[in-house]
Amino acid sequence: MRPVRKAVFPVAGLGTRFLPATKAMPKEMLPVVDKPLIQYAVEEAVAAGITDLIFVTGRHKRAIEDHFDSAPEMEAELARKGKAELLAIVQGILPPNVSCIYIRQSAPLGLGHAVLTAAPIVGDEPFAVLLADDLLDADRPVIGQLIDAALTHQGSILGVQNVPLSETDKYGIVATDPVGPRTERVRHIVEKPKPDVAPSTLAVVGRYVLDARIFAHLRQTQAGAGGEIQLTDGIASLMNEKPVFAHRYDGIRYDCGNKEGMFRATVALARKYHGLEP
Ligand code: UTP
Repeated sequence: MRPVRKAVFPVAGLGTRFLPATKAMPKEMLPVVDKPLIQYAVEEAVAAGITDLIFVTGRHKRAIEDHFDSAPEMEAELARKGKAELLAIVQGILPPNVSCIYIRQSAPLGLGHAVLTAAPIVGDEPFAVLLADDLLDADRPVIGQLIDAALTHQGSILGVQNVPLSETDKYGIVATDPVGPRTERVRHIVEKPKPDVAPSTLAVVGRYVLDARIFAHLRQTQAGAGGEIQLTDGIASLMNEKPVFAHRYDGIRYDCGNKEGMFRATVALARKYHGLEP
């Protein structure tokens, strides 16, 4: 398998669960302590050796482009005032060997459609997908764990964790056969099944390493759950052609796509990294 150098960040969703905060601001720019959600995901990818960051954006997402661009007036002002530490923070958001590429999703037609939008930039290489609203706190970057598993097992890898049975209808759920201590071969995948028909409680979270053949399958994928083109349905089709594995990553996940997860992440990270007392 070729090395994984490219990561796709679908950031074109509307973020309606955070209205009114997300009326004019992208959900991915909501901060957890002092960094926007998207920066946590980008740092995870960069720490795993990704050099090409592909953002699938939509309307009202300019703040994300500005965040990863230089800020000449602010940098000049911080330099003039001798605020070296803050200047380093502003200038150090991305290492110099990393490039950002932005492409617009024509309309929010679903996660599968967002990933397909990146096809012309990804080409035929295996690539990572990171959903910034899943914030993953781990000693070893979770997407790096998945890339290692992809190389070991020579296939696509889905980051998974067990969820309560009552929550299966919020996730893609897999049925698997074990092949290694943390890795399982996916036999079946279904989007948002009700608990009584869910094939397991092993849920796909927002981290993937995918074979570029996924694009051919997504092109054939019809709108599914919620009337959206689902990445899960594209993966189900890819499984007919290429091996797909589920990897139980090592780390803690905060679902920052909803308010409760956001509060939990803020408190946990403030305690762990910023000295907030209980
Ligand atoms: P969500 O299902 O969380 O949707 O998308 P959302 O619009 O962001 O948020 P709510 O439900 O309205 O509050 C999961 C991920 O897929 C991206 C989102 O940006 C998010 O990272 N996405 C979703 C797209 O990029 N395009 C889409 O058409 C749909």
